[in-house]
Amino acid sequence: MKILAIETSHDDTSIALYDTKKIIKEITVSQTSFHQLYGGTLPEFASRLHAINLPIILKELLENYDLSDIDHIAYTATPGLIGSLQMGKIFAEALALVLNKKVFPINHMHAHIYAVCFNHEIIYPSLALIVSGGHTQLWHVFDIDKIVLLGETKDDAVGEVYDKIARALKLGFPGGPLIDQISSQYEGEFYDFSLLHERNYDFSFSGLKTKVTNFINQANMKNEEIDVNKIASSFQKSVVENLIFKTKWAISQLNPASIIIGGGVAANSLLRSEFAKLHAKALIPDKKFTTDNASMIAIMSNYLLKK
Ligand code: KG4
Ligand code: ZN
Repeated sequence: MKILAIETSHDDTSIALYDTKKIIKEITVSQTSFHQLYGGTLPEFASRLHAINLPIILKELLENYDLSDIDHIAYTATPGLIGSLQMGKIFAEALALVLNKKVFPINHMHAHIYAVCFNHEIIYPSLALIVSGGHTQLWHVFDIDKIVLLGETKDDAVGEVYDKIARALKLGFPGGPLIDQISSQYEGEFYDFSLLHERNYDFSFSGLKTKVTNFINQANMKNEEIDVNKIASSFQKSVVENLIFKTKWAISQLNPASIIIGGGVAANSLLRSEFAKLHAKALIPDKKFTTDNASMIAIMSNYLLKK
């Protein structure tokens, strides 16, 4: 099955050409360098940049590949920034009209789960932890068409908090990879930023965000020098401990045959190594399939259509 997939839910414009479990080509244009100027994603500009980038990517694909024999066009339908999603949908539908193909709307979060299938076979029932810039969720996965949300963050998403703490520490944007890098080299002591670990499927990170930003602001007000590496590493330690605690608790409740991790924050080195220890079948995607990409939209639509 040959599929053209389009992902525009947030600030990456991505198109992939896929054929039976293999990516023939994926082109992703990141808008990070633009949004960096503002310390976070500007939704209106994100949609405008998708409108500019989508035809450029398509042109490059058309120069090298024949798209007339694709079976269908898949695109991210939800969730995401409304304007950005609309750009992908309109582009997919226009292309489908020209090529006389069917369009296939895909759920972005489900695709984050199935991104693991480029490297692993899912063993059902599975438990999926999806951690990204917009979401922190636990899913019970029975099959490609039976994916049940168990719980999610009640306030900030984990990636969002990474980005906010990095901004408070003046590290840059996006904060996750920067804090990850600092923490992996850090060998000192930690501050106690630990979270209350409640035994349920939901998450909450706004308390931690307030605690760490207050700590930074108070030190700044007193003109005290702050230990950026210690704060960043203590923050990450606390976040990862909480995500691991929740996953462990969910495993004890559901006894899944495998566990999956996905989403942008799943690129985090500490989280990956701790997650791997939780289950004999801990399925961890290749780092390139953790952040937003059209390849995961393609594989999801392929599995759904085969069902
Ligand atoms: O899934 P994703 O690519 O996009 C959206 O949610 O839209 O996730 C992006 C998030 C950002 O908040 C970024 O800081 C975080 O993933 N991230 C990481 C790492 N790489 C990306 N967080 C922690 N450690 C990382 N290595
Ligand atoms: Zn995402």
